[in-house]
Amino acid sequence: MTKNGVKKLQLLKDKILAEGNAINEDILKVDGFINHQVDPELMEEIAKEFAEHFKDKGITKVVTIESSGIAPAVFTARELGVPMVIFKKQPSKVLNDDLYQTVVTSFTKGTSYELTLSKKFIDASDHVLIIDDFLANGEAATGAIRLLRMAHATVAGIGILIEKSFQPGRAKLVESGIEVYSLARINKLGTDFISFIDDEPT
Ligand code: G4P
Repeated sequence: MTKNGVKKLQLLKDKILAEGNAINEDILKVDGFINHQVDPELMEEIAKEFAEHFKDKGITKVVTIESSGIAPAVFTARELGVPMVIFKKQPSKVLNDDLYQTVVTSFTKGTSYELTLSKKFIDASDHVLIIDDFLANGEAATGAIRLLRMAHATVAGIGILIEKSFQPGRAKLVESGIEVYSLARINKLGTDFISFIDDEPT
Protein backbone atom coordinates (compact mmCIF):
# COMPACT_ATOMS: atom_id res chain seq x y z
CA MET A 1 0.00 0.00 0.00
CA THR A 2 1.24 3.54 -0.68
CA LYS A 3 2.05 5.91 2.15
CA ASN A 4 -1.22 7.66 1.46
CA GLY A 5 -2.98 4.39 0.67
CA VAL A 6 -5.15 4.41 3.75
CA LYS A 7 -6.42 7.86 2.86
CA LYS A 8 -7.09 6.89 -0.73
CA LEU A 9 -8.89 3.76 0.20
CA GLN A 10 -10.81 5.79 2.75
CA LEU A 11 -11.93 8.04 -0.09
CA LEU A 12 -13.60 5.09 -1.84
CA LYS A 13 -15.10 3.81 1.41
CA ASP A 14 -16.41 7.29 2.28
CA LYS A 15 -17.99 7.55 -1.15
CA ILE A 16 -19.61 4.11 -0.73
CA LEU A 17 -20.96 5.11 2.68
CA ALA A 18 -22.21 8.51 1.49
CA GLU A 19 -23.59 7.59 -1.94
CA GLY A 20 -23.82 3.80 -2.14
CA ASN A 21 -27.23 2.26 -1.83
CA ALA A 22 -27.70 -1.35 -0.74
CA ILE A 23 -30.89 -2.50 -2.43
CA ASN A 24 -30.85 -5.76 -0.43
CA GLU A 25 -28.33 -7.89 1.47
CA ASP A 26 -26.48 -8.79 -1.74
CA ILE A 27 -26.45 -5.85 -4.13
CA LEU A 28 -24.85 -2.46 -3.66
CA LYS A 29 -25.77 0.27 -6.15
CA VAL A 30 -22.93 2.67 -6.91
CA ASP A 31 -24.44 4.34 -9.96
CA GLY A 32 -23.49 7.86 -8.90
CA PHE A 33 -19.69 7.39 -9.02
CA ILE A 34 -18.77 4.05 -10.70
CA ASN A 35 -21.49 2.28 -12.71
CA HIS A 36 -23.39 5.04 -14.48
CA GLN A 37 -21.96 8.43 -13.59
CA VAL A 38 -18.18 8.17 -13.12
CA ASP A 39 -16.08 10.22 -10.67
CA PRO A 40 -12.78 10.87 -12.50
CA GLU A 41 -10.96 12.18 -9.41
CA LEU A 42 -11.84 9.03 -7.51
CA MET A 43 -10.71 6.93 -10.51
CA GLU A 44 -7.39 8.77 -10.53
CA GLU A 45 -6.77 8.03 -6.85
CA ILE A 46 -7.80 4.39 -7.32
CA ALA A 47 -5.44 4.10 -10.30
CA LYS A 48 -2.50 5.54 -8.34
CA GLU A 49 -3.09 2.99 -5.61
CA PHE A 50 -3.26 0.05 -8.04
CA ALA A 51 -0.21 1.31 -9.97
CA GLU A 52 1.79 1.65 -6.76
CA HIS A 53 0.74 -1.77 -5.49
CA PHE A 54 1.53 -3.62 -8.74
CA LYS A 55 4.53 -1.52 -9.83
CA ASP A 56 7.09 -4.33 -9.44
CA LYS A 57 5.13 -6.95 -11.38
CA GLY A 58 6.36 -5.93 -14.84
CA ILE A 59 2.84 -5.24 -16.06
CA THR A 60 2.64 -4.90 -19.86
CA LYS A 61 -1.16 -4.64 -20.25
CA VAL A 62 -4.15 -3.77 -18.09
CA VAL A 63 -7.37 -5.59 -19.00
CA THR A 64 -10.97 -5.27 -17.93
CA ILE A 65 -14.36 -6.67 -18.78
CA GLU A 66 -16.79 -4.22 -20.32
CA SER A 67 -18.31 -1.99 -19.20
CA SER A 68 -17.95 -0.70 -15.65
CA GLY A 69 -14.30 -1.71 -15.29
CA ILE A 70 -13.24 0.49 -18.21
CA ALA A 71 -12.89 3.74 -16.26
CA PRO A 72 -10.65 2.45 -13.45
CA ALA A 73 -8.73 0.25 -15.91
CA VAL A 74 -7.89 3.07 -18.30
CA PHE A 75 -6.76 5.35 -15.45
CA THR A 76 -4.61 2.51 -14.06
CA ALA A 77 -3.10 1.78 -17.48
CA ARG A 78 -2.27 5.47 -17.81
CA GLU A 79 -0.51 5.43 -14.43
CA LEU A 80 1.48 2.32 -15.40
CA GLY A 81 2.19 3.64 -18.90
CA VAL A 82 0.80 0.56 -20.69
CA PRO A 83 -2.18 -0.11 -23.01
CA MET A 84 -5.60 -1.14 -21.71
CA VAL A 85 -7.52 -3.97 -23.38
CA ILE A 86 -11.29 -4.48 -23.05
CA PHE A 87 -12.62 -8.03 -22.95
CA LYS A 88 -15.88 -7.84 -24.89
CA LYS A 89 -19.17 -9.50 -24.16
CA GLN A 90 -20.99 -10.98 -27.10
CA PRO A 91 -24.50 -12.37 -26.81
CA SER A 92 -24.17 -15.16 -29.35
CA LYS A 93 -21.57 -17.72 -30.26
CA VAL A 94 -19.77 -16.41 -33.30
CA LEU A 95 -16.97 -18.73 -34.35
CA ASN A 96 -13.96 -16.70 -35.23
CA ASP A 97 -10.37 -17.87 -35.59
CA ASP A 98 -9.04 -14.46 -34.62
CA LEU A 99 -10.66 -14.51 -31.17
CA TYR A 100 -10.24 -16.31 -27.90
CA GLN A 101 -13.71 -16.98 -26.45
CA THR A 102 -15.16 -18.36 -23.25
CA VAL A 103 -18.67 -18.49 -21.76
CA VAL A 104 -19.27 -16.62 -18.49
CA THR A 105 -22.39 -17.14 -16.41
CA SER A 106 -23.26 -14.37 -13.96
CA PHE A 107 -25.06 -15.56 -10.86
CA THR A 108 -25.66 -11.94 -9.90
CA LYS A 109 -27.45 -11.11 -13.14
CA GLY A 110 -28.66 -14.58 -14.07
CA THR A 111 -27.27 -14.29 -17.60
CA SER A 112 -24.57 -15.85 -19.75
CA TYR A 113 -22.41 -14.23 -22.34
CA GLU A 114 -19.45 -15.04 -24.53
CA LEU A 115 -16.35 -13.17 -23.34
CA THR A 116 -13.98 -12.46 -26.21
CA LEU A 117 -10.45 -11.22 -26.81
CA SER A 118 -8.86 -10.51 -30.15
CA LYS A 119 -5.70 -12.63 -30.48
CA LYS A 120 -3.69 -9.65 -31.68
CA PHE A 121 -3.82 -7.73 -28.40
CA ILE A 122 -2.42 -10.20 -25.83
CA ASP A 123 0.30 -12.82 -26.25
CA ALA A 124 2.70 -15.03 -24.30
CA SER A 125 5.04 -12.13 -23.57
CA ASP A 126 2.37 -10.20 -21.61
CA HIS A 127 2.13 -9.77 -17.84
CA VAL A 128 -1.45 -8.73 -17.31
CA LEU A 129 -3.22 -6.86 -14.53
CA ILE A 130 -7.00 -7.43 -14.46
CA ILE A 131 -9.05 -4.52 -13.08
CA ASP A 132 -12.78 -4.71 -12.31
CA ASP A 133 -15.35 -2.76 -10.33
CA PHE A 134 -16.99 -5.59 -8.35
CA LEU A 135 -15.91 -9.01 -7.18
CA ALA A 136 -18.92 -11.15 -6.27
CA ASN A 137 -18.92 -14.81 -7.27
CA GLY A 138 -15.84 -14.29 -9.39
CA GLU A 139 -17.28 -15.70 -12.60
CA ALA A 140 -16.25 -12.69 -14.69
CA ALA A 141 -12.72 -12.74 -13.26
CA THR A 142 -12.26 -16.49 -13.78
CA GLY A 143 -13.53 -16.05 -17.36
CA ALA A 144 -10.95 -13.32 -17.92
CA ILE A 145 -8.23 -15.61 -16.54
CA ARG A 146 -9.32 -18.41 -18.90
CA LEU A 147 -8.90 -16.05 -21.88
CA LEU A 148 -5.47 -14.95 -20.66
CA ARG A 149 -4.38 -18.57 -20.28
CA MET A 150 -5.58 -19.28 -23.85
CA ALA A 151 -3.28 -16.45 -24.91
CA HIS A 152 -0.45 -17.98 -22.77
CA ALA A 153 -0.13 -14.64 -20.96
CA THR A 154 0.92 -14.33 -17.31
CA VAL A 155 -1.78 -13.15 -14.89
CA ALA A 156 0.09 -10.69 -12.67
CA GLY A 157 -2.85 -10.01 -10.35
CA ILE A 158 -6.36 -8.63 -9.99
CA GLY A 159 -7.30 -5.17 -8.73
CA ILE A 160 -10.87 -4.78 -7.50
CA LEU A 161 -12.66 -1.62 -6.38
CA ILE A 162 -15.41 -3.26 -4.31
CA GLU A 163 -15.13 -6.81 -3.05
CA LYS A 164 -18.21 -8.41 -1.53
CA SER A 165 -16.25 -10.59 0.87
CA PHE A 166 -19.37 -12.51 1.92
CA GLN A 167 -19.51 -14.01 -1.59
CA PRO A 168 -17.05 -16.68 -2.79
CA GLY A 169 -15.17 -14.84 -5.58
CA ARG A 170 -12.06 -13.93 -3.64
CA ALA A 171 -11.57 -17.42 -2.17
CA LYS A 172 -11.89 -19.03 -5.63
CA LEU A 173 -9.26 -16.74 -7.13
CA VAL A 174 -6.83 -16.97 -4.24
CA GLU A 175 -7.18 -20.77 -4.25
CA SER A 176 -6.09 -20.78 -7.87
CA GLY A 177 -2.96 -18.83 -6.94
CA ILE A 178 -4.02 -15.36 -8.11
CA GLU A 179 -3.23 -12.25 -6.07
CA VAL A 180 -6.40 -10.22 -5.39
CA TYR A 181 -5.96 -6.62 -4.23
CA SER A 182 -9.31 -5.11 -3.25
CA LEU A 183 -9.64 -1.49 -2.19
CA ALA A 184 -12.93 -1.80 -0.31
CA ARG A 185 -13.92 -5.13 1.23
CA ILE A 186 -17.52 -5.36 2.37
CA ASN A 187 -18.31 -8.10 4.85
CA LYS A 188 -21.96 -7.26 5.45
CA LEU A 189 -24.61 -5.33 3.60
CA GLY A 190 -28.10 -4.21 4.53
CA THR A 191 -30.54 -1.55 3.40
CA ASP A 192 -29.48 0.69 6.31
CA PHE A 193 -25.82 -0.25 6.82
CA ILE A 194 -22.59 -1.22 5.05
CA SER A 195 -19.70 -2.72 6.99
CA PHE A 196 -16.13 -3.13 5.78
CA ILE A 197 -13.49 -5.64 6.70
CA ASP A 198 -11.42 -3.35 8.81
CA ASP A 199 -7.98 -4.68 8.05
CA GLU A 200 -5.40 -3.58 5.53
CA PRO A 201 -6.45 -4.45 1.99
CA THR A 202 -4.82 -7.64 0.72
P1 G4P B 1 -21.03 -13.22 -10.53
O1 G4P B 1 -20.06 -14.32 -10.46
O2 G4P B 1 -22.03 -13.20 -9.44
O3 G4P B 1 -21.58 -13.05 -11.89
O4 G4P B 1 -20.23 -11.97 -10.15
P2 G4P B 1 -19.37 -11.12 -11.04
O5 G4P B 1 -18.31 -10.63 -10.13
O6 G4P B 1 -18.99 -11.88 -12.25
O7 G4P B 1 -20.34 -9.93 -11.44
C1 G4P B 1 -21.36 -10.01 -12.42
C2 G4P B 1 -21.86 -8.64 -12.78
O8 G4P B 1 -22.63 -8.12 -11.69
C3 G4P B 1 -20.75 -7.65 -13.01
O9 G4P B 1 -21.21 -6.65 -13.87
C4 G4P B 1 -20.58 -7.03 -11.64
O10 G4P B 1 -20.00 -5.76 -11.72
C5 G4P B 1 -22.02 -6.95 -11.19
N1 G4P B 1 -22.20 -6.94 -9.75
C6 G4P B 1 -21.99 -7.94 -8.88
N2 G4P B 1 -22.35 -7.57 -7.64
C7 G4P B 1 -22.77 -6.28 -7.73
C8 G4P B 1 -23.25 -5.33 -6.78
O11 G4P B 1 -23.39 -5.58 -5.57
N3 G4P B 1 -23.58 -4.11 -7.27
C9 G4P B 1 -23.45 -3.77 -8.58
N4 G4P B 1 -23.79 -2.54 -8.93
N5 G4P B 1 -23.02 -4.65 -9.50
C10 G4P B 1 -22.67 -5.89 -9.07
P3 G4P B 1 -21.26 -6.85 -15.41
O12 G4P B 1 -22.32 -7.80 -15.79
O13 G4P B 1 -19.89 -7.24 -15.87
O14 G4P B 1 -21.72 -5.47 -15.97
P4 G4P B 1 -21.02 -4.06 -16.05
O15 G4P B 1 -21.56 -3.25 -14.91
O16 G4P B 1 -19.54 -4.20 -15.96
O17 G4P B 1 -21.43 -3.57 -17.38
